[in-house]
Amino acid sequence: MNLKIALLAGDGIGPEVINEAVKVSEAIAKKFNHNIEWKSALMGAAAIDAVGDPYPNKTHDICLASDAILFGAIGHPRFDNDPSAKVRPEQGLLRMRKKLGLFANVRPTFTFPSLLNKSPLKKERIEGTDLVFLRELTGGIYFGERGRKDDGNTAFDTCTYNRDEIKRIAVKGFELAMKRKKKLCCVDKANVLESSRLWRETFQEMEKDYPDVKVSYEFVDAVAMRLVQWPNSYDVLVTENLFGDILTDEASVISGSMGLMPSASVGLENSLYEPIHGSFPEAAGLGIANPLATILSAAMMFEMSFGLHNEGANIREAVNKSLIEGKVTKDLAEKGENSFSTSEVGDYLKELIR
Ligand code: IPM
Ligand code: MN
Repeated sequence: MNLKIALLAGDGIGPEVINEAVKVSEAIAKKFNHNIEWKSALMGAAAIDAVGDPYPNKTHDICLASDAILFGAIGHPRFDNDPSAKVRPEQGLLRMRKKLGLFANVRPTFTFPSLLNKSPLKKERIEGTDLVFLRELTGGIYFGERGRKDDGNTAFDTCTYNRDEIKRIAVKGFELAMKRKKKLCCVDKANVLESSRLWRETFQEMEKDYPDVKVSYEFVDAVAMRLVQWPNSYDVLVTENLFGDILTDEASVISGSMGLMPSASVGLENSLYEPIHGSFPEAAGLGIANPLATILSAAMMFEMSFGLHNEGANIREAVNKSLIEGKVTKDLAEKGENSFSTSEVGDYLKELIR
């Protein structure tokens, strides 16, 4: 198979973790007789520095012309503490999501038996956790009307959703639930917010089309609590953009390291795959970044964009083996144990796959 993949390394540790994901993907392609055409493009602070725009048109064209997009990380501290900055790396990410119609952000949370002791949560609470968040990604308060009034002394952001936007993410949720445990949780704040009431109404209407799926409706504040108490009680959770942003960071704690959790953003034309961690600028260039979240994102890419399930499973297997054998970066190494560099972990996985 010929796979056309856009490669956006982005900022901070982005280029380093992307390198390892390319290494591992190439090993898989070689083993299973595929040919990958990589096309690199600028994104984030790196793109601002080079051409003054965090998501240049050229990058958008390369993304559109590809079957899938593999993305590293975005963000740089020099923008974070400057509220007056006119262009920010994150604007590029939001523009990319909107222009590519990446409406469904799939964020799985699972535990690795070999890493249960890495989570700050009690082992017996998190053991066997395997849940997926579907976060709506192109609507809500992220994209609603915002501004200032009263000479700048009042600010507002609005959360707007229409029925079609809710329906298309809900369909993804119901379909995913059908493939898993047939359990779906609609996360909202319908006791307060009108947009949440429309979410709930839409899900309730759709229940009849999926009679096998058991749907629960829970308020976001309660989910925030239960997620760390009994993560095991959830399977598929669907929610709006901002709630999903917050809850998925919280959920990443369950696995023990943000450096492990992959994600996919399913779009209208094609989909994007990225680790859920940030650009970790303090670690850039030091060779200590954990590449596994990006490598697991590449596994999701093989499966979801190309239907190549053996390829994805092979990557996951190699990652599991490397964890069991302790071939891990500093963030995961036991005290007093040797840790491996970003590229050593990639080399080890490449060898395992070969
Ligand atoms: C994420 C990030 C982004 C978001 C930022 C970088 C704009 O936190 O992908 O979760 O808020 O969506
Ligand atoms: Mn986030």
